[in-house]
Amino acid sequence: MLNSGIMKFKRVEGKYGNLVPIEGGRDIPFDIKRIYYITDVESDIARGFHSHRMLHQVLLCLNGEVKIKLKTPFEEEVIQLKNDSRGLYIGPMIWREMYDFSENAVLLVLASDNYSEDDYIRNYDFYLDEANKLF
Ligand code: TYD
Repeated sequence: MLNSGIMKFKRVEGKYGNLVPIEGGRDIPFDIKRIYYITDVESDIARGFHSHRMLHQVLLCLNGEVKIKLKTPFEEEVIQLKNDSRGLYIGPMIWREMYDFSENAVLLVLASDNYSEDDYIRNYDFYLDEANKLF
């Protein structure tokens, strides 16, 4: 899929538990300017339904499980994230929907820029028009 992909991070495992280090400038392909996390999503709720014009993000599910559907005008893919030290990179102009949050799912997002509503495309038909021009 265009502008997206699974990232595998190092996991330091031991009898005292596991540790996953993620370093800016080394492990993440952009400068991290913002982090946020999503919790307490009921299992019948879906979120997202937008693309970003410029933003780069890495999504990490720190607890539980969640499905992420990615779409472009030509492709569609569903990725299940869980606490297995894998993350999902999503670059500009990729439509995403998040759903099937398990109980106590925690979705952490690393982002390349501050929050700006102007960077969102929230209308799917408009997204298709813009993405068809771009890709
Ligand atoms: P939104 O990105 O639409 O969430 P999702 O894609 O998970 O459904 O954001 C939901 C609300 O939270 C929206 O009103 C904007 C606000 N928000 C911020 O204030 N700062 C942020 O960094 C983010 C991501 C959202």
